[in-house]
Amino acid sequence: MINERLMQLNLPKLFKFDDGSTVENVNDWERRRDEIIDVILKEEYGTIPPRPDNVFVKDMRRVHNDFAGKGEHLIYDLCFMTERGEFSFPVNVVKPKGNKKNPAVVHIAFRPDIPDKYYPAEEVLDLGLTVFTFCYQDVTTDDDFESGLAAMYDRNKWTWGKIGMWAFAAMRVCDLLCTFDYVDSNNIAVMGHSRLGKTALLAGALDERFKYVISNNSGCSGAAISRGKEGERIKDICNRFGYWFCENYKKYMDNEEKMPFDQHFLLSLICPRYLYVSSAIEDKWADPFNEFITLKEVDKVYCLHGIDGFASEDSFPRPGDVFSEGRVGYHLREGTHYVSRYDWLRFAEFIKKGDRI
Ligand code: GCU
Repeated sequence: MINERLMQLNLPKLFKFDDGSTVENVNDWERRRDEIIDVILKEEYGTIPPRPDNVFVKDMRRVHNDFAGKGEHLIYDLCFMTERGEFSFPVNVVKPKGNKKNPAVVHIAFRPDIPDKYYPAEEVLDLGLTVFTFCYQDVTTDDDFESGLAAMYDRNKWTWGKIGMWAFAAMRVCDLLCTFDYVDSNNIAVMGHSRLGKTALLAGALDERFKYVISNNSGCSGAAISRGKEGERIKDICNRFGYWFCENYKKYMDNEEKMPFDQHFLLSLICPRYLYVSSAIEDKWADPFNEFITLKEVDKVYCLHGIDGFASEDSFPRPGDVFSEGRVGYHLREGTHYVSRYDWLRFAEFIKKGDRI
């Protein structure tokens, strides 16, 4: 059923090189991966500046909010050099007390508050995860190119849209947390919801230090295949939020079948690492069905690697279904567009499962 739907959509082929030849093995895939990165940056998210030489902490504050004595809350001012001088933004860390190395999550957040409606900090802490949260608007707000990170690089040189900028910031948080003794740097996740779920996918696709990539309700231009999509289409997203992408993306408004890629290209870059996508049944704008089928397509890359990828049935999932046996996980929950406690608990389980392997 799902495979038939995928055939009908006639998606650009993951295993076909630009010159028409075929990917036969994992070595070929590594070369194909580079082509895929090039096309999604050129046509969708825009080009992104290289990693800065040095990321450092300018200031650190301790917040007296210790989660029943079980945790610590620190705020770092993360700083690095850009083309136009120094740039910094605050990063909140909530960690279990002590110096044990714990898996860490880079949480790209809508709001700066800890905890907040989208981030049940105490429950996540109790699960033994250290969470580095930054608020996307502290890096750069939605449509302003005159301030924040957007103003720090030459726009004639780099074609990035806002999603690329937030993803770049998530990678800088990763640079920082890798320097801390209390982080298990072999077990780092990146997680985001909605526009920030799109961002988490891009950060995770580009930066292989993220072993787990978790995207909640990311929908259009995130986890969902654009061809045949319900709810939000490329035309809708470009009309309202064109600045999240590069200019080239506008070519595909009402013109999806001309795209030399689709969202399975982005998600395929995460293989052989751990990928988790979550949908909500009432979130029709994001389109749970098209989020789900992307994973079916991406599973083929895990097969090529001889790794268990997406272990699901060949039918559309029901609310309450969780598929987390392989390295590609998914759940569909009841309810609306939101990142809930239920979602966080599934993410934490998925990370911990990977951690044991
Ligand atoms: C809008 C947009 C979505 C996006 C969401 C969000 O609904 O259409 O693509 O995911 O905002 O980020 O909140």
